[in-house]
Amino acid sequence: MSRVTIAGVTEVLDFPAGLLALGARDATYRTALDADELPAGAMRRVSFGDLDVLLAHTDRGIVAIDDRCPHMSAPLSIGDLVGCVVACPLHSGRFDLSTGEPVQMPTTGGLWPDGHYEPVWTPPGREEKPDPPGKKADARRLTRVRRLRYYPVRVVGGMIEVAIPG
Ligand code: FES
Repeated sequence: MSRVTIAGVTEVLDFPAGLLALGARDATYRTALDADELPAGAMRRVSFGDLDVLLAHTDRGIVAIDDRCPHMSAPLSIGDLVGCVVACPLHSGRFDLSTGEPVQMPTTGGLWPDGHYEPVWTPPGREEKPDPPGKKADARRLTRVRRLRYYPVRVVGGMIEVAIPG
């Protein structure tokens, strides 16, 4: 993992290879936001047609991903950003924007990206609650949290640009 530095300032996070968003490889860069509107620690949603993109200014640079949690699609832009980790407002899943990996499973439980199962979260000191049988429980159990997918970002003339497919 490395950082891209422009004029001595860390600007853009160099995201992991293999986690590029579908169609973003040869996509055209489009103006997203004035860089002044995204100070360190901030997150913003920017929409291009029906594609909602999250811009996050992490402690390792700016990054762009879908503004949809890789669990059940809640908007991460209204979650919390601490360092390089974004917390989802819906089921408390936490995702590392420098690696694309979940670092805390949603409280609903389910499957990690590699397919291993995590049970429903239980408060410390309490007994594990058995999930009642049925389709809702099956859906929770079989929902796989994906790795994040990234859109290339650059900063040109003080404007943040994102490579958007289509
Ligand atoms: S939708 Fe984000 S943790 Fe469930």
